[in-house]
Amino acid sequence: MNQDELKAAVADAAIKEIEPWLEKDTVLGIGTGSTANLFIDRLGKFAGRFKGAVASSDASTKRLKGLGIDVLELNSSGTLPFYIDGADEVNAHLQMIKGGGAALTREKIVAACAERFICIADDSKYVAQLGHFPLPIEVIPMARSYVARELVKLGAEPVYREGVVTDNGNQIIDCYDVMIDDPKAMEATLNGIVGVVTNGLFAARGADVLLLGKEDGVERTALR
Ligand code: 5RP
Repeated sequence: MNQDELKAAVADAAIKEIEPWLEKDTVLGIGTGSTANLFIDRLGKFAGRFKGAVASSDASTKRLKGLGIDVLELNSSGTLPFYIDGADEVNAHLQMIKGGGAALTREKIVAACAERFICIADDSKYVAQLGHFPLPIEVIPMARSYVARELVKLGAEPVYREGVVTDNGNQIIDCYDVMIDDPKAMEATLNGIVGVVTNGLFAARGADVLLLGKEDGVERTALR
């Protein structure tokens, strides 16, 4: 199976996972990216059977609406039963690096409001140690150079993702060469730099369930 087929397999598995919960009051949290898109496409056939979705990006909002799924405000949606999203890297503790698609801040906010985070990923994303994928950091534009200097002091190699403006009107710095021995500590340290909106480490709130697409099928890992 190629990577796209593995992504499709985990999207199918995620539908099976949440389908019993699709009732008239159900609001789902939906992520961003190519794997999340495959999930959204499959969710389309259930439009009308559940209340709607909160999306983590303008792109996912557009895709959901195009399939007839209502997109709701997070502020009036309370706690969501599920957040379903992909990852750029995921480890055995279901901690992740996310933000390759620059949607990390809204992803983290919607995930924080969910009872269960279901991560869907092909097995190229599974790593022993986080950090091979450059760690995205969303910054307030006027703070970009300052944040970059602080990142250098931490031993990282920051690279400005030129031409990218997030849905929140901010900019992205990708951090290369960060050794992430303690993801929770690193997440907190980076979020402590003035001007950082958030970083792409999802460790304090990792996933609860990982559906990992492998050659021999979808492997399900549940921590909670
Ligand atoms: C977007 C993300 C995505 O979840 C991550 O980049 C994975 O994307 P894909 O499913 O396309 O590999 O964090 O900000």
